[in-house]
Amino acid sequence: MKAPFNPFIINTYQGKDYFCDRENDLKTLVSHIKNDRNVVLYAWRRLGKSALIHRLFEELETSKEYETIYIDLLASQNMDEAIQSIASAIYEKYGKTTSGLSAGIQKLFGSIGATISFNALSGLPEITLGIIKQGQQYQSLKALGEFLLSRKKRIVIAIDEFQQIVDYENIKAEAVFRAWVQQIPGVRFIFSGSHRTLMEAMFTEKKRPFYQSSQLESLQPIPLTAYTEFILHHFQAAKKTISPESIEKIYLWSRGQTYTVQLVCNQLFSNYKKITESTVDIVFDQILTQQQSIFANFQKMLTKAQWNVFRAIAKEEPLQNPMGKDFLQKHNLGAASTVRTALKALEKLELVIKDEDYYLVHEVQLARWMARL
Ligand SMILES: Nc1ncnc2c1ncn2[C@@H]1O[C@H](COP(=O)(O)OP(=O)(O)O)[C@@H](O)[C@H]1O
Ligand SMILES: [Mg+2]
Repeated sequence: MKAPFNPFIINTYQGKDYFCDRENDLKTLVSHIKNDRNVVLYAWRRLGKSALIHRLFEELETSKEYETIYIDLLASQNMDEAIQSIASAIYEKYGKTTSGLSAGIQKLFGSIGATISFNALSGLPEITLGIIKQGQQYQSLKALGEFLLSRKKRIVIAIDEFQQIVDYENIKAEAVFRAWVQQIPGVRFIFSGSHRTLMEAMFTEKKRPFYQSSQLESLQPIPLTAYTEFILHHFQAAKKTISPESIEKIYLWSRGQTYTVQLVCNQLFSNYKKITESTVDIVFDQILTQQQSIFANFQKMLTKAQWNVFRAIAKEEPLQNPMGKDFLQKHNLGAASTVRTALKALEKLELVIKDEDYYLVHEVQLARWMARL
């Protein structure tokens, strides 16, 4: 991998030199995999689930004992698209040989009715599945599973944004996936998702197919001490200065959310040699200004009551009692029943989350922006 210009990566995984800590999380995951346990990895958005999976996969691939397959279901709307994503990931991993498409993959894709074409604009291969009949979805997954079982090495599959399957229409997607997982018991699975409540429910409710099938691991923010060391190291290596106090200020403003810490550090690193309180404030401002037009859309999307409650939570967070008299009066929110209804809607949209006993605006940058209104 090429060294990036800026050591504070904000979109992908670029190798462990640019990856902060997570040593304990990594150990836990490795231990689950080595002991044949499937894992559920869940946390609020942008804390670093996907990056951690890539970090883990690098480790497993380096050991030469495992083959890893990463599947992202974020954009998938139904089971066919999910199967297509799985087929694409398998193609990415095993399809290309020096002499073209591998024979095994050709046979596999033939059996599930998939074709490979090349996108005229990007030149990248695209896997297209024919329309799969209801009953055949299971057959397709079975064929993909059998292919995986034929591999010599142990296989680990990560399915990212797994909560997506709950929204698939006309199908008991959870039951279909559960059957697939049981069909290939030699394959280890990591199910990752950012809808914490949904993920927990899927794996802990008695009546659901995945009940008690996997180890639940909830990812926490990187500790401030570890983050401080990481940030100091990268600034010092570039002969730039930043103080632990400034780092703490960034960490608190970001609520420890990895993405926002990275973004602030990325901009500070690119613009300044000596970081001070005021340069940090300037970057906070810049970040909120850049997102202004996106943030403003939330007001249009919500009812007046929802917006008022949303903004009030941003101003008071962490908020313990949203039905409390003081809160209602201070922000002019009207009746408790109105607030209750609005809050329910906001929680359903995952715009507001309940962490421990506190209500928070999920997107930390949006929270900081609204708090200023
Ligand atoms: N341990 C880490 N050290 C440095 N950057 C990280 C780390 N974990 C995640 N990131 C960065 O933070 C951002 C959000 O992480 P991501 O894995 O996409 O979050 P999630 O999958 O939980 O939504 C990414 O841009 C990633 O590069
Ligand atoms: Mg992710």
